[in-house]
Amino acid sequence: MQLKDSFDRTIDYVRIAVTDRCNLRCFYCMPMEGITYEPKAHLLTYEEITRLLSVLGNIGFRKVRFTGGEPFLRKDFVKLLESTHGLNMYDSIHITSNGTLLTKHIPKLKELGIKNINLSIDSLDEARFKKITRRNDFAKVIHALNSLIDEGFNLKINAVVMFGINTQDILPLVQFAQTHPVNIRFIEEMPFNGGYKENDQIFKADDIYRVIKKEYPSLSTRPGLHGETATNYTINGFKGDIGIIPAFSRTFCNTCNRLRITAKGEIKTCLYDGGIFSIRDFMRSGVSDEQLTAKFVELIKLKPKNGFEAEKHRENSLGREESMSSIGG
Ligand code: 5AD
Ligand code: SF4
Repeated sequence: MQLKDSFDRTIDYVRIAVTDRCNLRCFYCMPMEGITYEPKAHLLTYEEITRLLSVLGNIGFRKVRFTGGEPFLRKDFVKLLESTHGLNMYDSIHITSNGTLLTKHIPKLKELGIKNINLSIDSLDEARFKKITRRNDFAKVIHALNSLIDEGFNLKINAVVMFGINTQDILPLVQFAQTHPVNIRFIEEMPFNGGYKENDQIFKADDIYRVIKKEYPSLSTRPGLHGETATNYTINGFKGDIGIIPAFSRTFCNTCNRLRITAKGEIKTCLYDGGIFSIRDFMRSGVSDEQLTAKFVELIKLKPKNGFEAEKHRENSLGREESMSSIGG
């Protein structure tokens, strides 16, 4: 079965934030202090998440990504990976992590056949990494990065590009892909949490492209995969490749294939909506799997055409109360 939304897009990819907590404080994502975390009872339990994944698997979902906050910060996160693996419904299980707590779990990930890891690394310069994340974990993250490469994972590095902060990191990150088989992805900064930004304060996908193209004229597009938000590029002689994600410009919405579930069980049919339904409360009211299934079908029909529509219709404005750590990127 394939589930289609009202714009004939096949929706088969779910992203689940397993926690809103993080041990880093990337300033575009989290405030320095005064963070109110959800109490544990508000979070979806692993049993609830596994049930949701089973229901979604039955209506054609084939890809799942666990995000956070930092997923490995939640107690026994690998148990959730085990139960998801045990469902045997997903073609691939993906994880987005900051890498600080990851290295020791590599054997378990291999055992479960989990190969796809995205690491959030905005700079390969220790001082700038520290400035951006407000923590001293550079060495741990680089260790995780190197270990994952050595162990043959499909590795992507996510780097949010910010005016006046880390545009000088673009080329060193690109260079990393010359000698390592990784996909380096540059992401336009989105105006969540860190405060509202004007259009012209965002370092755009085109700007990123120009910086790379100037240094590497052989930069050329390669065909994308179903639902990919990144435009991907190859460079002659490189082991890895490059992606650029127009997360702010939102030019990829016409091929969107995803549904998001926040740590406290809010359904987001678009990254830019404010959360449209509490699947947690619905589940806790004692509904059957059939009722859950029908609800998902209904919610997916509400998926907006694009991120601009979603933003227009949300009740609260962007960039105020919502942190990416509770959405999962
Ligand atoms: N803009 C763009 N990307 C962001 N992320 C977190 N906050 C933002 C933001 N404001 C990214 C993280 C991570 C992914 C899950 O989302 O860097 O790689
Ligand atoms: Fe943590 Fe990722 Fe947010 Fe940074 S961007 S604070 S690593 S959740």
